[in-house]
This record gives sequence, structure tokens and C-alpha cells, in this order.
Amino acid sequence: MAEFDTIIIGAGPGGYVCAIRAAQLGLKVAVVEGRGTLGGTCLNVGCIPSKALLNATHQLHEVHENFEKMGLMGAHPTVDWAKMLAYKDDVIAGNTKGIEFLFKKNKVTWLKGWASIPAPGQVKVGDDIHSAKHIVIATGSEPSSLPGVTVDEKTIVTSTGALALGSIPKSLVVIGAGVIGLEMGSVYARLGAEVTVVEYLDAITPGMDAEVAKAFQKILSKQGIKFVLGAAVQGAEVTGTGAKVSYKLRKDDSAHEIAADVVLVATGRKPYTAGLGLEALGVEMLPRGQIKTDGHFATSVKGIYAIGDAIVGPMLAHKAEDEGMALAEIMAGKHGHVNYGVIPGVVYTTPEVASVGATEEQLKEQGRAYKVGKFSFMGNARAKAVFQAEGFVKILADKETDRILGAHIIGPAAGDLIHEVCVAMEFGASAQDLALTCHAHPTYSEAVREAALACGDGAIHA
Ligand code: NAI
Repeated sequence: MAEFDTIIIGAGPGGYVCAIRAAQLGLKVAVVEGRGTLGGTCLNVGCIPSKALLNATHQLHEVHENFEKMGLMGAHPTVDWAKMLAYKDDVIAGNTKGIEFLFKKNKVTWLKGWASIPAPGQVKVGDDIHSAKHIVIATGSEPSSLPGVTVDEKTIVTSTGALALGSIPKSLVVIGAGVIGLEMGSVYARLGAEVTVVEYLDAITPGMDAEVAKAFQKILSKQGIKFVLGAAVQGAEVTGTGAKVSYKLRKDDSAHEIAADVVLVATGRKPYTAGLGLEALGVEMLPRGQIKTDGHFATSVKGIYAIGDAIVGPMLAHKAEDEGMALAEIMAGKHGHVNYGVIPGVVYTTPEVASVGATEEQLKEQGRAYKVGKFSFMGNARAKAVFQAEGFVKILADKETDRILGAHIIGPAAGDLIHEVCVAMEFGASAQDLALTCHAHPTYSEAVREAALACGDGAIHA
């Protein structure tokens, strides 16, 4: 039995970042992780491996679509799927080992095994019971199940199985047009699979600014991804040749079936808190399975905290990281804070889609007077040079004060560009502040400035 200031359960982006910051602030910290490697879902079976496959298949797409346009002639590469998966695994290993190194550097103890909390102040791992002043639950989330669909991770898969299929399917049905469905759908579409996305709602990517979502769907359709919208999936089953999905169109209740080699279920995730013993401890939960916390990440039981996907808010690695850092500050007797109004969201397709702050729909709902500054990448020289001029930057600003309320970008490197607006929003900037900032030419960032200019007297290259 060892004594710690803080024991964190879960070594995903929330848990490991919390651990490192808490150790940097002088606390004696341990992290319990039962998976063989650190980094949680994000590094092992989520954000990082999917980015590796997105990168590899994007390169392939570039070769097929754009190389000859640039005078790069010659034989097109063929895909060695096993090697592509090995590359993905190398990327995972490089990152998970990096966290191990950071733990050693910061003197964070890794307690290997699965944890439970037998009593406040105690964490059980295997047969050992450790004590801690603070216990942090950072156990993340797992794919939510869909009635009538049994996942076998071979033919009917979640994102985990989709990252390690035995072979490239000829056809793929994706259930759910959310982030996972579209990122993984893009990977397999670029590898030649016929991809059909079946979505319950009448638009893709719920919550995204509607104008951007519409443009996004159009671009993905051009890339060959098919969409069946307004379709409630009733079930999916494995057949002799693959799987079939049954759905009902909501507009007329008509029943349909669609067959594919592989079915990806991407209908959302739910908090993963099983086995911790929270019920016996009396930790209060919310109706949708999240752990209830106050503004300082404290649960209803003294000394037990929770962060990340296990509590309310967007299920994003960087939201968990920010909560982890803030909580470490709080546990060290300082002030930790997360600004939930400025959390970017990114979809890593090509083009990327990124957003921060309010959507136009939200502003309308709030009855807020706003203005829109938009700029198409068609007017951006750099984007045109790399065949990525589809898409636009849209900045929403208060009509009276010009303060930036939100930004939505679909286009090259959108996931990086968005941070310029995030910083501006953190500083309470106006669109004019962005517009008056010198931007290097030729860069994609100029499109952000032009959108900011469009909130005022107008963009230059429009
Ligand atoms: P999601 O919540 O983003 O999307 C799920 C979609 O499935 C929704 O559009 C929903 O309407 C649809 N759906 C639900 N039930 C259905 C049914 N019976 N028939 C047809 N459609 C149905 O969930 P997703 O994509 O699984 O992602 C899970 C979480 O992981 C999200 O919170 C997401 O933000 C996060 N994530 C973030 C990434 C990123 O930031 N790049 C990458 C991957 C995941």
C-alpha cells in the first residue's frame, strides 16, 4: 500500500495531462491504467491512429487526383494494407511511449491494472489498496450500442475495429454521420471502398453550423461518399457475404435494406464508469450516465473528482486535457479554470472542418444581433496552388460591438487555422482586431483575415 496526494484513474488525455501538471505543481501522483500502453482511447484506438490512416490515404488521393496536374508522372502506388496498418501502429507506439517518458520525467507512478474505489481516499488495483487525498476519475468513454446491432469488431465494427480491419472492404456502410463516421468513411472511400453513410437526422454532423455542414456534405459527396439522410437504423446483422443494415426512412416510414462487406457503427459514445464501485460510494450520476460534478470537477463524494468524457460536455480529448490541467491547479491549491465557450472542434477529413464558439443557428435562437463575414478559399492564392480552394471561412461577430462570437472553417488546414480565432476570442477581440493584424502572404491564414475584413468594410480578394 502506497500513499499519494493524487491518484488518477485512466491515462487518456484527461488523466495523463492532469497527472503531469499535478506532479509539476509538487504533488505526489499515481495513475492507474489497465491497458498495456498509456494514452487511453485517443492515442491507442482513436484520434491518433485515425490521423495516421487519414494521412496515408490522403497522400494516396493526392497521387491519384493531383500529381499529374503538377507534372508528376509515373506509376501510381498500390496499397499494402498490412504495411499501412503497421505504420499506424508505429505512430501509436511512438506516442504512447512518449507519455511513458513524460511520466518518468515528472515522477508520476504508473499503477498497472484496473482500479476500483472501495472507500473515499482509497484506490484498489489488483490486491493492493493505495491511499490518496484526491482521487480523479478520468475513465473516458466507450462506443454506445445501438438496439438490434451486435458488434463483433470484424464485420460489424466500432471505430476500434475500423482501425484494424483484416482487409480493405469493397463496400462499407457507416451508421451515423458524426465525426467518427465521416473520418473513417473518408479513409475507406479513398482506399476504393464504396461508402454509404446512413444518418438519422436530415443533415450530417449534428451541432455544426448548418451552412458549413451543407457545404461539407456536398464536398464529401463529390469525393464519392453516398448519404442516406433521415434514416433510422433498425438493426444490422452479419450475413454469409458481409452484413446488412435495415433502416426506415423517417419521412414515410418505408423500410429499406443495404448490404456491405463491413458496417461501422458510429452513433456516439457514452461515459465509461463500470467497475469503479461508484454506486456503492453514492457518487451522484446524471441521467445520461455521466458523473455529476460541480464547477471545480468535484463529485458528490468528498475527495473524488471527475473530468473528460466521464462528465458533461463535448467528448473531445482537448476538453479533457484542459479539465485535467485545471483540476491539477485546484488540487494544488491554485485556481483552475476552463473556458467552455472557446473549445474548438475539428473534423480531420480533406478538407478539414473546424469550428469554435456559436453557430449561426445558436445566435438566431438566442435572438442575438450578429453579422457574418465570409471568405471563400477561391480567393486564397495558396489554397488554389494546392488544389484545396473548396470551402470558406465564416466569422460571426456581434452586430454592435464587433466582438467575435464564433468561427467556422471548411478548407485546408482548418484545424490549425481555427486557433487564431480561439486566441482572439480568449482575448475578447473584435473582428476588426483580426482584420488589422498583418498576415503573411501567401498563407491559408489570410482567408481568416479576409473573413474578418468581411465583417467590416469588406474583404479584398472577394
Ligand atoms: P456523434 O455523436 O458525433 O454522431 C453520431 C451520429 O449518429 C449522429 O449524427 C446521430 O444522429 C446518428 N445516429 C444515432 N443513432 C442513429 C440511428 N439509429 N440511425 C442512424 N443514425 C443514427 O458520434 P461519433 O461520430 O460516434 O463520435 C463519438 C464522439 O467522439 C463524439 O463526441 C465526437 O465528438 C468524438 N470524436 C471526435 C473526433 C474529433 O474531434 N476529430 C474524432 C472522433 C470522435
